Amino acid sequence: MRIHCRVLVLALCLGVFLVLHFLGGNTADEPLLKQVLIVKQEEKRNSSPSPSELRRDVAAKFAAKKAPLKARKEEKAGLKVAKTKSKQRSNVGRPVTKRARAQEGMHLAVVACGKRLDETLTMVKSALLFSLKKITFHIFAEDPLAPLFEERVRSRLKLKQWPRSVAKFHYIIYPITFSVGDAEEWKKLFKPCAAQRLFLPVILKDVDSLLYVDTDVLFLRPMDDVWSFFKAFNSSQLAAMAPEHEVPKIGWYSRFARHPFYGNTGVNSGVMLMNLTRIRSTLFKNSMIPSGLLWEDLLNPLYQKYKNHITWGDQDLLNIIFHYNPECLYIFPCQWNYRPDHCMYGSNCKGAEKEGVSILHGNRGVYHDDKQPAFKVVYDAIHDFPFEDNMFQSLFYPVQTKFLDTVNTLCGRIPQVFLKQIEKTMRKVFEEKVIRHARPRK
Ligand SMILES: *[C@@H]1O[C@H](CO)[C@@H](O)[C@H](O)[C@H]1NC(C)=O
Ligand SMILES: *[C@@H]1O[C@H](CO)[C@@H](O)[C@H](O)[C@H]1NC(C)=O
Repeated sequence: MRIHCRVLVLALCLGVFLVLHFLGGNTADEPLLKQVLIVKQEEKRNSSPSPSELRRDVAAKFAAKKAPLKARKEEKAGLKVAKTKSKQRSNVGRPVTKRARAQEGMHLAVVACGKRLDETLTMVKSALLFSLKKITFHIFAEDPLAPLFEERVRSRLKLKQWPRSVAKFHYIIYPITFSVGDAEEWKKLFKPCAAQRLFLPVILKDVDSLLYVDTDVLFLRPMDDVWSFFKAFNSSQLAAMAPEHEVPKIGWYSRFARHPFYGNTGVNSGVMLMNLTRIRSTLFKNSMIPSGLLWEDLLNPLYQKYKNHITWGDQDLLNIIFHYNPECLYIFPCQWNYRPDHCMYGSNCKGAEKEGVSILHGNRGVYHDDKQPAFKVVYDAIHDFPFEDNMFQSLFYPVQTKFLDTVNTLCGRIPQVFLKQIEKTMRKVFEEKVIRHARPRK
């Protein structure tokens, strides 16, 4: 009887072990299988799914992409020789040799002075995460900062640590230079070094067009989308900015400015598209010389004339220039340069309420203090995002969760404003990059 019991127990144990082993082996494969199936179903489906469905599906797709990745690694190893010969993907950190190649892509200029290193790198990261076309970064850094900056940029932006879905890019670091007038005086204007942006058409002679951004800007959708405003320019437009304020009654320029400015509320220069080719060849009307002046010849006299009346430095000069040349400026809506001003006195950027923020501009130092936590949540999430990871899990969910803590603040009151575009972007990034990259290469 006892022996029988033992045999029975042993047999049971073996049976349970086998069943567990069998199940265990299967469940390990099963999620992947499911994800792949979801991807296939999603590709076939034409009706538009609900947001929560999408979220789940996209997250699953991000996970599913790991499978083909492994295969690609092997393929990569085999193709090593061919690749180094063609030098197609190894241009990171090196200036492009063929100018024509660089012109195909997009150009982004930023001026990083003082303690703006981390902020600048976070901006660069946000641009790379979501963008599609190749980006050339023109990074201007103060002399003492330049070597440190270069080292950190190099160490952080090494492509091999980046997933394939990240936009292709290269960068060039420049020292701060002022081509006309008193360099020291220009440097003092507004925040240290910001006046540099006025000289971009003169310094970057080989660049046709670029997007200038302040260091405290974050892209919540592909840079390609803001770049496409260039196509909307008519023949006299050569730059694009958003209004400084939506409501003249509480706008700064409309209440305090002691100099001419653009439109009813002035423009904000933190996000600015510039067609440098056109800027270089246009004669700008002004209050000094009736025949007009080239950009290069305009800056210094303009500064000399208004320097005692301007508060916000180079942005004021841009406002004066476009006051006299309004036909040269394209105005894009506030969701492309969304600042605390748009929510701290009540929500006044209707475009952002409707379609969400496209470009976030955390001026007033809001990424680094607790005055507007809604801005800080987004900054921290992008800053801390580990690149290799699943974007939905490590970027969108943390933002969404932490955002709940800010709903009692002025800017966090309407979560849709901050979250809508990010969610849309995640989906688009997946569709355009992951699916494309997951296809077998020829
Ligand atoms: C900038 O303007 C020049 C001259 O009109 C034009 O050839 C070029 O295509 C423009 N660049 C962009 C990005 O629209
Ligand atoms: C381009 O658009 C601006 C703004 O609407 C306008 O003032 C200007 O006259 C237009 N230029 C041309 C050449 O149509």
